[in-house]
Amino acid sequence: MSTILFTAALLSLCAATPLQSRYVVKETHRVPHEFSREGNAPSQALIRLSVGLKQGRFHELEKQLYEISDPDHSHYGQYLSLDEVNELVKPKDESLELVQEWLHQHVDPKNINYSPARDFLTFILPVAKVERLLETKYSVYRHVDGSTIIRTPEWKLPLHLHDHVTAIQPTTSFIRAVPQSKTYLNVPGTVGHPLPYGPSNGTVDQVCNTRAVTPLCLRTLYGTVDYKPKVPGQNQVALTDYLGELNNRSDTEIYLQRYRPEAVSAAYKFRQISIANGTLQQTPNSPAQLRAGTGIEGNLDAETILGISWPTPLLAWSTAGDPPFAPDIDNPTVDNEPYLTWVNYVLKQDFVPQVISNSYEDNEQTVPYSYANVVCSQFAQLSARGVSILFGSGDGGVGGVQPGGSCLSNVNNQTQFIPLFPSSCPYVTSVGATVNFKPEVAAYDPRNKFSSGGGFSNYFPQPKYQAEAVSEYLDTIGEEFSPLYNKSGRAYPDLAAYGVNYTIIWNGTLRLVDGTSASTPAMAAIFALLNDALISNGKPPLGFLNPWLYKKGKKAFVDVTSGSALGCNTTGFPATKGWDAVTGFGTPVSPAN
Ligand SMILES: *[C@@H]1O[C@H](CO)[C@@H](O)[C@H](O)[C@H]1NC(C)=O
Ligand SMILES: *[C@@H]1O[C@H](CO)[C@@H](O)[C@H](O)[C@H]1NC(C)=O
Ligand SMILES: *[C@@H]1O[C@H](CO)[C@@H](O)[C@H](O)[C@H]1NC(C)=O
Ligand SMILES: *[C@@H]1O[C@H](CO)[C@@H](O)[C@H](O)[C@H]1NC(C)=O
Ligand SMILES: *[C@@H]1O[C@H](CO)[C@@H](O)[C@H](O)[C@H]1NC(C)=O
Ligand SMILES: *[C@@H]1O[C@H](CO)[C@@H](O)[C@H](O)[C@H]1NC(C)=O
Ligand SMILES: *[C@@H]1O[C@H](CO)[C@@H](O)[C@H](O)[C@H]1NC(C)=O
Ligand SMILES: *[C@@H]1O[C@H](CO)[C@@H](O)[C@H](O)[C@H]1NC(C)=O
Repeated sequence: MSTILFTAALLSLCAATPLQSRYVVKETHRVPHEFSREGNAPSQALIRLSVGLKQGRFHELEKQLYEISDPDHSHYGQYLSLDEVNELVKPKDESLELVQEWLHQHVDPKNINYSPARDFLTFILPVAKVERLLETKYSVYRHVDGSTIIRTPEWKLPLHLHDHVTAIQPTTSFIRAVPQSKTYLNVPGTVGHPLPYGPSNGTVDQVCNTRAVTPLCLRTLYGTVDYKPKVPGQNQVALTDYLGELNNRSDTEIYLQRYRPEAVSAAYKFRQISIANGTLQQTPNSPAQLRAGTGIEGNLDAETILGISWPTPLLAWSTAGDPPFAPDIDNPTVDNEPYLTWVNYVLKQDFVPQVISNSYEDNEQTVPYSYANVVCSQFAQLSARGVSILFGSGDGGVGGVQPGGSCLSNVNNQTQFIPLFPSSCPYVTSVGATVNFKPEVAAYDPRNKFSSGGGFSNYFPQPKYQAEAVSEYLDTIGEEFSPLYNKSGRAYPDLAAYGVNYTIIWNGTLRLVDGTSASTPAMAAIFALLNDALISNGKPPLGFLNPWLYKKGKKAFVDVTSGSALGCNTTGFPATKGWDAVTGFGTPVSPAN
């Protein structure tokens, strides 16, 4: 064989041999206190794995996001299109090629799904193969509530890929997306009957009752009662259902018939979309669902939004992500990543409703940093499209997703306040809760210990838009809780709305519900009406709210100055004059009050 031929053969061999490098640990995340290991994961169980690639020009996207959301910038309101966003976040060719080269040794290329910007690659593999792909070992973990998931506390990646891959899930993510309305009361029949129709020109005193809060009360309290939407064809509002939550149309019909009769036709008309086999169930709840209160959160969200912002069309997305896991399972539902699945679906759509209400949170520390960061950067993309993303700030004060949390750090096992994700993401707007009228105070309900959530992220640094407001607050509260929270983190909530004793219809009867997940759909509905007014005046919708809110929008909110985010056996962050870490800038101004 001639040298030239030999060299050519060698070269072609080289070209065909994928780049190899040593596997090195890419991510470690301690298993949260609430989970215990039960044993090895069944090797045949299927996992739907998402691989996130480093986005090419995320910083440019972020820069543009802040410009188009700044009311003083010349680009204010000039939101980006789907294609413009994709162009900014698409990974570099090198990242994509290296990752493909590695994956194609393990996965048939035709089974890999690409996101439109090619920044996410998704495929289904059995546990045994994922274990080889990531040199890891999956286990079954049981949560204190009895449910189980398959996860691993650590995974590896060939060293030459470390800078090109941002996150791979499900691996280390123990996220649970807890609905922030868990605390509800059984109020059968008509107890505390709430002046359903009242005089529509009434005062807050005439139409509001702290024992049963209705749409008429909220519309009067926040001054939208006289507003008639003008462009419902161009403006929409959306809600998200996770973890098997659902929106029952017949309950919604009963609710609207009673509390917003002119809107009743919407109960069977609003759109429902299933993502990744999310449930659209309209049959009666099973006994297990009745015990779990399934649909309370979903009904609260749909009923509250329609009760306030009708006839603005409502869209409900239902995303699966918490299937009962059986060790012999062999379908691709071992997947508990609702936010990523949801946001990646929504990012593909040409039209996205201008306001999205999310009533779910999880303790930030149960969510690995890489996952939180990837999801948060996807939220930035949605924000850049001109969408306002609202999340409830949590129902356990400073103590985490629910009252009575352990307040233990997952990192060093020390006592600390527990911040929540996604509220801790700087690109979303976090909504706290209030109670009482004239004046409203930070919500606390002694019956179920519901307390409006607030805190400081350990993952996301403080965004510039809130630097001044937060530093004034820190000066005001002094050092009392200093060791328990991270002063340099993104602080939340950003604002608040009423959140105690909302009337809802569930399982055919009246219930009263508390939660920042009551405040959040109410706030979303109010922003939807504001957008309607803007759009009908030829202006762009509000889009990402925070830069506007901290600069100018705050003037449209009434400061809440008493109450606090009780939790961790402390009084928690107090409401104060100006922005605070329990009610943000307060509740919407009403011309009527
Ligand atoms: C509401 O309207 C009724 C009838 O038009 C009127 O008599 C009443 O004074 C109004 N109430 C208020 C508070 O404006
Ligand atoms: C909420 O309603 C219950 C009765 O259903 C009542 O006991 C409680 O005081 C109410 N909360 C407030 C703040 O009024
Ligand atoms: C979708 O969900 C239904 C029940 O909600 C279940 O019977 C079905 O197997 C699921 N399909 C997939 C592909 O997971
Ligand atoms: C809604 O809930 C009711 C009461 O549980 C049930 O009878 C009904 O089948 C559900 N779905 C619809 C569409 O009504
Ligand atoms: C963390 O602290 C708690 C109470 O102080 C203790 O019960 C638990 O065993 C500790 N856990 C770890 C992992 O150190
Ligand atoms: C505090 O927050 C910053 C980000 O703002 C982070 O880098 C740092 O690790 C956090 N500290 C702790 C103890 O988590
Ligand atoms: C749900 O409604 C059914 C039918 O009215 C009733 O028998 C059942 O007790 C209700 N369950 C709950 C938890 O309200
Ligand atoms: C709060 O105090 C009670 C009683 O002293 C104690 O049992 C509990 O562990 C404490 N909780 C936290 C989060 O410190």
